[in-house]
Amino acid sequence: MLVCAGFEVSRLVTDTQNTFQALVRALNQAVVGQPLLAERLTIGLLAGGHVLIEGAPGLAKTRAVKSLASLVDASFKRIQFTPDLLPSDISGTEIYRPGEASFEFQRGPIFNQLILADEINRAPAKVQSALLEAMAEQQVSVGNSTYPLPDPFMVVATQNPIEHEGTYDLPHAQLDRFLLQVKVDFPGVADENRILELSRLEGRNNVVHENGALLSPEVIALAQSETDSVYMSAAVQEYMIQLVVATRNAALYEMGGAIAADIEYGVSPRATIALDRCSRARAWLNARDYVTPDDVQALVHDCLRHRLVLSLPAQSRGKTTDTVLDELLSMVPVV
Ligand SMILES: Nc1ncnc2c1ncn2[C@@H]1O[C@H](COP(=O)(O)OP(=O)(O)OP(=O)(O)O)[C@@H](O)[C@H]1O
Ligand SMILES: [Mg+2]
Repeated sequence: MLVCAGFEVSRLVTDTQNTFQALVRALNQAVVGQPLLAERLTIGLLAGGHVLIEGAPGLAKTRAVKSLASLVDASFKRIQFTPDLLPSDISGTEIYRPGEASFEFQRGPIFNQLILADEINRAPAKVQSALLEAMAEQQVSVGNSTYPLPDPFMVVATQNPIEHEGTYDLPHAQLDRFLLQVKVDFPGVADENRILELSRLEGRNNVVHENGALLSPEVIALAQSETDSVYMSAAVQEYMIQLVVATRNAALYEMGGAIAADIEYGVSPRATIALDRCSRARAWLNARDYVTPDDVQALVHDCLRHRLVLSLPAQSRGKTTDTVLDELLSMVPVV
């Protein structure tokens, strides 16, 4: 049980958990057949981090984030990234007021609580870094002034991995700022039928799937603090750290060094922190007050895949970071 679990407190915790479970269900109703996406967006919100969604066009990436925005009582802005976007289109501009002979800062769309950075890889590096700086520091600096961003502050970015023309890949240092990178895949036959039915229903009624806000900023803050107090045993922590260390020195865990040769750079401590926060959030969402090795294993790919850099020979053989992570999971002994 949770520390100081008096009757009032445990009732409150249960209510908050119920609300978050209702959020996951509502997201799953709006976006058919993508349960991981619904869970990961919720974990991102609980862990106070940013999420990058990667998937082919038309897989409901934008729809998922818009649904999240409709369920959370927070200010929301969608920023469509295009090649001609400027950094000031995100952060804001200083405007000269001749009457007062002074400059006034006009806040850009980043000054919202939930941001959808749609097709982030369509804008050049300068614009991407304006966004990523705001994400890392939760503040915007213009001229000599610094402006804090609101709380909660969550960026969900989308990118399409199959189009390369006219796109600008996010550099690894910037990818590292995303707590999670979630991949969405094509739906199966049954889900395709359900998507069609939903789309016809919405078309007939001329409505988009709307639920009304479920989560207030206070409930989110309460859930975040409950997530922070989820217990991780020394053994589970050791397992998590061994997994991270294995990305840097796989030779410690294998015979022959084949996997070590596939990895150019392992992951940073930011990855350990991400794995820790997300595992706690998953445990809390599943109504547990302790983390299991299952939580860590379930999140290894989404927390680490975008931070791991493979060697050129491994990339040319078509190896992916997901395959390497599978191999590391099978090598590192579970506590
Ligand atoms: N799993 C799904 N559940 C419900 N609707 C879906 C699903 N997949 C696709 N759709 C429908 O397909 C359309 C495309 O969705 P959306 O615009 O969110 O895709 P996207 O992944 O953002 O695409 P793009 O990469 O081109 O921006 C929407 O009309 C959406 O309602
Ligand atoms: Mg989209």
